[in-house]
Amino acid sequence: MTEKWTPETWRSKKALQLPEYKDKNKLEEIEGYLSNQPPLVFAGEARRLKQQLGQVCEGKAFILQGGDCAESFAEFKPTNIRNLFRLMLQMSVVMTFAGSMPIVKIGRIAGQFAKPRSAPTETIDGVELPSYKGDSINGSEFTPEARHPDPERLKQSYHQSASTLNLLRAFAQGGYADLTKIHRWTLEFMADTPQAKRYANLTDQITQALNFMAAAGITSDNTLQLRQTDFYTSHEALLLPYEQALTRVDSTTGDWYDVSAHFLWIGDRTRQPDGAHVEFLRGVNNPLGIKCGPSLNTDDLIRLIDVLNPENEAGRITLICRMGHDKLEDGLPPLIRAIEKEGKKVVWSSDPMHGNTIKSASGYKTRPFDNILSEVKSFFDIHQAEGTHPGGIHLEMTGQNVTECIGGLHNIKDENLAERYHTHCDPRLNASQALELAFLIAGELNAIGQNREPEHANDFYKITAPLA
Ligand code: PEP
Ligand code: CO
Repeated sequence: MTEKWTPETWRSKKALQLPEYKDKNKLEEIEGYLSNQPPLVFAGEARRLKQQLGQVCEGKAFILQGGDCAESFAEFKPTNIRNLFRLMLQMSVVMTFAGSMPIVKIGRIAGQFAKPRSAPTETIDGVELPSYKGDSINGSEFTPEARHPDPERLKQSYHQSASTLNLLRAFAQGGYADLTKIHRWTLEFMADTPQAKRYANLTDQITQALNFMAAAGITSDNTLQLRQTDFYTSHEALLLPYEQALTRVDSTTGDWYDVSAHFLWIGDRTRQPDGAHVEFLRGVNNPLGIKCGPSLNTDDLIRLIDVLNPENEAGRITLICRMGHDKLEDGLPPLIRAIEKEGKKVVWSSDPMHGNTIKSASGYKTRPFDNILSEVKSFFDIHQAEGTHPGGIHLEMTGQNVTECIGGLHNIKDENLAERYHTHCDPRLNASQALELAFLIAGELNAIGQNREPEHANDFYKITAPLA
């Protein structure tokens, strides 16, 4: 017998990674405030996304999920939101064109503020303070005041999420995403790069096709699909008091939805089948992600899916694999085989970021681009060998011209990291690296679409010319 669920049954379970708030009255007051605020997303939108993810399950669509490791209050600028949106549109066009399949776009945005950390404290020059846990919990400055968890921050996270979503909705539906404008999406600092040239080449072909369709009477003026796009939001459902305050009954269906985002995922550190995070998420009807790191065994995976998706609904569960380029080959096939054996319906996505984090010689947390590419390539190869569908990619990326991950066509080196290292948490792909990766994936999707051997994918994505 499954125990009864309510939005607060998680409170009697063991919750890892949550902050210890000193002022409980203040926290309660803010939870009350949030529970009276309007929903950020609608249940119907989450259902639509789940249905699209059901298509991904069957190999008929592919997910692009991306954004900051952690959004921040300080970096809240319309240009940053626009640049991420633009870059994701560009990447989707590249992948749609090559793979002849729809790309489901999900931002790690409008709510991605709370971070799990490997260590609860950080020590600098003999001073030990609580670790930075994301702007919705505490501040990143290394002072006791900043690192103190403050419930007041939840209000700012909510309001920043609302403004961000408002702009994203305007971009997605107000004409910015019109396919006849694709050549305008290239970011200024990307002009004259090999990826921009390849992209221009591709947009020329798409424009030709659109001109043909216009001559036949199909234009963005009379066809919504050419003028608008769907753009969904997601974040890690870590900070349960916040998520609970934004959990509501949908008036259409009578079901519970967490209206803080369309898609929520459980982190690799909080996916205990009997823990608080799993308990909370089992009761909300949003599509869910589960981060699958190298320590996840097949028994726990099946147990998790039994708890979170007892009806085996397609599109409910996305398994986001983040093993590391050198561990995927051993780690992923057993998970795939267990899922196939049990007949579970899941989407397989690859997060090639979190298993490939290293400390550079100069002390920066970074990720070698080659290892990221290599994990993505193995992900496709393994699914090809197992006869299953590679369903998506999950990236920490930004539309800004940062220097946080080493390598890529611009060959960012350890000594360049200091130039524009702006992340508040993990290192992100910059726009050029993200687009380069999109071309690699496009090649893989094209090979699958053409039913060719994956080796031929190289013809499509390889850009070997070094930059001067
Ligand atoms: C993240 O996605 O930022 C994250 C912390 O991931 P994981 O739980 O996979 O480590
Ligand atoms: Co991260």
